[in-house]
Amino acid sequence: MEKLTYTHNDAAAKALAAFYETPPLAYVRSYGCQQNVNDGEKIKGVLQDVGYGLCDNVEHADLILFNTCAVREHAEQRVFGNVGALKKLKEQNPRLMIGVCGCMAQQEHIVEKLRQSYPYVDLVFGVDGIDRLPAMLAERIRKGKRYLEKPAERNAVVEELPIRRDSGFRAWLPIMYGCDNFCTYCIVPYVRGRERSREPAAILAEFRQLVEQGYKEITLLGQNVNSYGKGLEHPIDFADLLNLLCEVPGDYQIRFMTSHPKDASRKLIDTIAAQEHLCKHIHLPVQSGSDRLLKEMNRHYNVAQYMDLIRYAKEKIPGVTFSSDIIVGFPGETEEDFAATLDLIREVGYMQLFTFIYSKRAGTPAAKLPDPTTHAEKAARMDRLLKTQEEFAFAATAAMAGRTVRVLVEAAGRNEGTVNGRLDNNLVVEFKAPESLIGQWADVHITGSRAALLVGELAE
Ligand code: SAH
Ligand code: SF4
Ligand code: F3S
Repeated sequence: MEKLTYTHNDAAAKALAAFYETPPLAYVRSYGCQQNVNDGEKIKGVLQDVGYGLCDNVEHADLILFNTCAVREHAEQRVFGNVGALKKLKEQNPRLMIGVCGCMAQQEHIVEKLRQSYPYVDLVFGVDGIDRLPAMLAERIRKGKRYLEKPAERNAVVEELPIRRDSGFRAWLPIMYGCDNFCTYCIVPYVRGRERSREPAAILAEFRQLVEQGYKEITLLGQNVNSYGKGLEHPIDFADLLNLLCEVPGDYQIRFMTSHPKDASRKLIDTIAAQEHLCKHIHLPVQSGSDRLLKEMNRHYNVAQYMDLIRYAKEKIPGVTFSSDIIVGFPGETEEDFAATLDLIREVGYMQLFTFIYSKRAGTPAAKLPDPTTHAEKAARMDRLLKTQEEFAFAATAAMAGRTVRVLVEAAGRNEGTVNGRLDNNLVVEFKAPESLIGQWADVHITGSRAALLVGELAE
C-alpha cells in the first residue's frame, strides 16, 4: 500500500489560470454511497485549491465531473443519461471539460464505452486519483487530447487532501478504503481495490479538527468498519478506535457504517453501550434471511449468528435500533428463501430497511448463476418485504409518542414552517421551528407519528 500526502500543484494551477479567460467554475456531482460523497467533497477541495470556483448548474460550468457509482445497473444508466445530456453544452463552450470519475471509471468496459460513444467526455480518473486531478487537467489542456485510460489500481491512502464539505454540522470521516470481502453479487471490491486502513493518528487529527470546527455529528466510513486496523503497523481494532475518538472532549455524536455482521464483535456492542458519544443505532446489513443464500452470497455468517448479535445488542443497549440492507431476488432465491427473509425482518424489527432488487454485475461470481425468477416476481416480493417492514416501523414510531428527546436539526421539513431533526436512534421527527435551528441540537416532545416519520413540538 502506498501512503501519500497531497501537495499543492502550482504548475497545474498556473496552466489552468492561463487557459481560462475568466475564473473557471466546476460542477461536481456524486452518486452512490457516503464514501463517494466524501470523495466528491475532496474533489471540490482539490479543484478550489487550483483556482476553480464551484457552481451547481451545469450550464455555468467550465468543468463538469460525474463522480459515479457502479453498485447497480440503474445507477450506471443514470450517469450515461446525464453525460449524454451534456453534448449541447460542449458545442456552446469549447473550453468546457467533462470528466467521469469514481467507481464506474474503474471498469474497462465503461471506459471503452465512453471512448467509443461519448466523444465529448475529456477524461476519466479513478477512485484514488483525486490528488492527481490538477495534473490531469493541466495535461488535458497542454496535449489537447482526451485522457481516457482505465485508471490503474493504486491501493493508496492519500492524506491531507483539501476538502470542501457539503455540511457545516455533519461530516463524513473515512477510516478505511476498499473491500476484501467479495460478496458474490458485489462490484465494490473490484472497483475500490483492496482494504486498507488509515492510521489512527490521521483519523484522530481529522476528528479533533472537526469537533473544534463545531461539527456535531461525525460518521465514520468504511465498507466494513469492523475489520478496521488490519495491516497497520500497530494494529488496533474498531472498538479501540471508537474509544480513542470518544476521549476527545466536545458536544458531538458519532455514527458509523457499514458494520459487516461477520466481524461485528460483542466488544463493539459493549463499546456502543458504554460510550455516550456513540449513537444507539446499528446499521447491520443482513442481505438475506436464508442460510443457503447467505452462503451463496459469501457472507460468512448464518441467521443464528446474526440473531445472537442482535439479541446481545438489544440486551446491552437500551433503546437500540437497527437498520439493514436487503437484496431481493438474488439468483436462485426461492419462495422459501424469501419467506425466511421476511421471518428474520419480523424477528429483528428494523427501524429502516434499504432494499434492492438484485442487479447483475459483470465480472462478479453471482453473474454466472442461473436466475430463473422473473422481474415481476421479484418486484412482487419487494412489495411484500416493504409491507412487512412498514408494519413494524409504523408501530414502533407510534409507540414513541409522549417521549422528549434530543435531536440534531438537519433540514427544513416537508410542511411549511417545520424542520426535521434526527434522534440518536436514527428516527426523524418533524416539528415547528425556524430554519435557523438547522445544525443545532433541540429538545423535542414527540406527539405522534405519520408512517415512519415522528411528529413533535419543540420542548420548552
Ligand atoms: N459494504 C456494505 C455495503 C456496500 S453496497 C456492506 O457490506 O453492507 C450497499 C448495498 O448495496 C449492499 O449492502 C447491498 O445490499 C446492495 N448491493 C450491492 N451489490 C448489489 C447488487 N449487485 N444488486 C443489488 N444490490 C446490491
Ligand atoms: Fe460489497 Fe460485501 Fe464489500 Fe459490502 S462487504 S462492499 S457488500 S463485497
Ligand atoms: Fe457505489 Fe462505489 Fe459506493 S460502487 S456504493 S459509489 S463504493
